[in-house]
Amino acid sequence: MSRIKDAKLSKEGREELEWARENMPLLAMIGKRFEKQKPFRGITIGVCLHLEKKTGVLLETLKKGGASIAAASCNPLTTDDRVAAALADEEMDVYAWAGEDEKDYYKNINSVLDHKPDLLIDDGCDQIFMVHTKRKELIPSIRGACEETTTGVTRLHAMEREGRLKFPVVAVNDAYSKFLFDNRFGTAQSTIDAIMRATNKLLAGKTIVVIGFGWCGRGISERLRGLGANVIVVEVSGRLGREEGPAGQHKALEALYSGFRVMNLDEAATEGEFFITSTGNINVISRKHFGKMRDGAILANAGHFNNEIDIKGLEQLSSKRERVKENVERFTLRNGKKLYLLSEGRLVNLARPSGQGHPIEIMDGSFAIQALSLEFILKNKLPAKVISVPRSIDDEVAELALEAKGIKLSKPSEEQESYARSWKEGT
Ligand SMILES: NC(=O)c1ccc[n+]([C@@H]2O[C@H](COP(=O)([O-])OP(=O)(O)OC[C@H]3O[C@@H](n4cnc5c(N)ncnc54)[C@H](O)[C@@H]3O)[C@@H](O)[C@H]2O)c1
Repeated sequence: MSRIKDAKLSKEGREELEWARENMPLLAMIGKRFEKQKPFRGITIGVCLHLEKKTGVLLETLKKGGASIAAASCNPLTTDDRVAAALADEEMDVYAWAGEDEKDYYKNINSVLDHKPDLLIDDGCDQIFMVHTKRKELIPSIRGACEETTTGVTRLHAMEREGRLKFPVVAVNDAYSKFLFDNRFGTAQSTIDAIMRATNKLLAGKTIVVIGFGWCGRGISERLRGLGANVIVVEVSGRLGREEGPAGQHKALEALYSGFRVMNLDEAATEGEFFITSTGNINVISRKHFGKMRDGAILANAGHFNNEIDIKGLEQLSSKRERVKENVERFTLRNGKKLYLLSEGRLVNLARPSGQGHPIEIMDGSFAIQALSLEFILKNKLPAKVISVPRSIDDEVAELALEAKGIKLSKPSEEQESYARSWKEGT
């Protein structure tokens, strides 16, 4: 029995879903195969994702494969109530509405877990965390899970390091077919789109500080430059919880060589007219920065949790916090300056109504990886670790995405294959 905002919204939700479906050829192909083979027959999938139209198409695809679906949102502000109503109509159990408070947010995830899922899909790891802390009785029957985002994968690596992870979790985020496109191009377009919808302000000629030059920050910076903004990139040194990959100093240099100004936030705080966080880290914009900012500066977060901007600190420095309009709040600092916070500091590109989420085609690729990874978990006996998406799935999804756009790459010749593997001669 679903708990949603309004069942009467389902007609509009169906329209949204239809538009998404028409633009998700990969999920359509996978769905056709699932319909025949029913890989999820008898399987219940517990879902904790942003519940909007693209997610809806993923859930329909899994249902075609025989799955029963119970779904909650992975963020209190990101549910599209129209889509939630349509999915509830399609015999899924949906527990989510836009603007749910923190208590209801966790209650809804708990309701999903009451369905005793065999598989989980998570975005940010809140569902997996709840199973490992408050619903441990479910662990023996859970075959595995998929995690969608960088922050979730970071949390899972920490659980694995401490020997606390009790079932396999596929790190969907770390597939090339996911992060190269979703984090970079998807977050870029949707973040900028949401900021424009919320503020209706011109970005050309503005000084915009992008904090974090990872996959998301890189995309946001590049696209902002394309719109004529002056972009300042802020990074920190070190790898922050990750042992591999480039460190912050490599990314700072990459930003510099890409033509961006690079500095630390103490310096950039005085210059920015907009600030966008995309780090996965905590209190990245903190008390010491707010006082230095220009009057009218706008703050937005594209990272997973609403803790990248120290909102409590901002509140304490302010004499007033008030709603200006949907997705925009004004903080009047004691020094008289006004700062504007978008979408309560939550994922600006997904927080409704200005946040529409990633473009449909991008989520077609990310969710193709999700669907195939869930099937992979069922077909294989995997250890209780963070598991990489198999290369065959990662490569296949990129190939199918190209094919869907009418692009067919040629294969290297046998001569080229063997040359690439040989101890090459110079001349
Ligand atoms: N908005 C979305 O739709 C969306 C999509 C994908 C990922 N995400 C989230 O966005 C965040 C970033 O993801 P990513 O894939 O770009 O991660 P990433 O690891 O590639 O990059 C994060 C970058 O932030 C930097 N950083 C960390 N702390 C910092 C600080 N205090 N100051 C400056 N820089 C700092 C790191 O050095 C790193 O380069 C994560 O929370 C992820 O879950 C959001």
